[in-house]
Amino acid sequence: IDLRSFNTLAVPANAAYFIEVASLAELQQALEFCREKRQSPIVIGGGSNVVFTGDIDGVVIRIAMRGIECTMRGDDCLVTAAAGENWHELVCYCLAKGWYGLENLIAIPGSAGAAPIQNIGAYGVELSRVLESVAGWDCETSTLRSLSLDQCKLSYRDSIFKHALKDKFIITSVTLRLSSKAKPDVSYPALRAELADPDSVTSEQVAETVAKIRSSKLPDYRREPNAGSFFKNPLIEAEQARALLEQFPTLAHWAMPNAQVKLAAAWLVDQSGWKGRREGGVGVHPKQAIVLVNYEGLSGTAVIEFAAQIQADVMAKYGVNLEIEPRVY
Ligand code: EPU
Repeated sequence: IDLRSFNTLAVPANAAYFIEVASLAELQQALEFCREKRQSPIVIGGGSNVVFTGDIDGVVIRIAMRGIECTMRGDDCLVTAAAGENWHELVCYCLAKGWYGLENLIAIPGSAGAAPIQNIGAYGVELSRVLESVAGWDCETSTLRSLSLDQCKLSYRDSIFKHALKDKFIITSVTLRLSSKAKPDVSYPALRAELADPDSVTSEQVAETVAKIRSSKLPDYRREPNAGSFFKNPLIEAEQARALLEQFPTLAHWAMPNAQVKLAAAWLVDQSGWKGRREGGVGVHPKQAIVLVNYEGLSGTAVIEFAAQIQADVMAKYGVNLEIEPRVY
């Protein structure tokens, strides 16, 4: 099967086996099939954060379980969403029900089950603020188990699922602690700037405004195939940051709690002259410098090679390593 329509970068790649699983029983069957074939599977959700650099000899499992349930605990709404739920639709559903907390995370592509892996975050809110627990299949013990927020070790675009549990745990549902009391967060400067009266907005207005900002600068993968931010915002030590900021005073950055400094990858790519630059079928989006667009449906290798040129330029100019955010297979 061609995976082109199962990844938002639209790179072509043939998978020898492709299994969509809509229940835990189906997941177990698929894993049994993998054992017979002596293959470890590649597990995908919405395909919005992956780059396939070649054909896949083995098995691709697409997580497709659906279902949303809510339990009230006082003002808190404990919402459990099956991993295959579409993230954006989940945000809209919760908002319509009056379960607040996800407004700033509207319009992010991908599935609910993928959200904890990179601790999705946007416009001042990260998943870590609302995540209660994650349930999934532990491939080493062949049991279903639940991880608390602490055990998920979420940090900026990172979690235990990229490290100790990488390829060892298949998320089947996420539980979020939302609230029936609206508490709009309008601290992110770019969001504040769009609001006429930031201190008296409703959650619905926040969601609407974030959706508007996103659609004004982030390309829609259905027309311009992309994987969202292709680079992470680099974290550097205070000392290196001081030296860099002396030389480049306009470098966009944020102070982090542990004395580190987060630099805007978009600024680094932009100032290295790459914004809007296109070489052949791959380019940097003209309105958001960390988004790469696969205009002509080229291979994942072509996209990675293009990214490598940007990484080399940023390293030469600023001495900063730009890390690729999506998972590369
Ligand atoms: N900037 C530029 N040139 C650009 C774009 C931005 O110089 O072309 C500078 C601006 O000075 C701006 C700063 O970079 O102040 C940050 O830009 P922006 O607010 O657009 O956010 P970002 O840091 O580039 C991150 C997330 C996005 C998320 C936005 C909004 C990462 C890797 N990306 O981008 O997430 O939507 O913040 O909160 O952290 C994603 O992960 O796929 C994603 C889209």
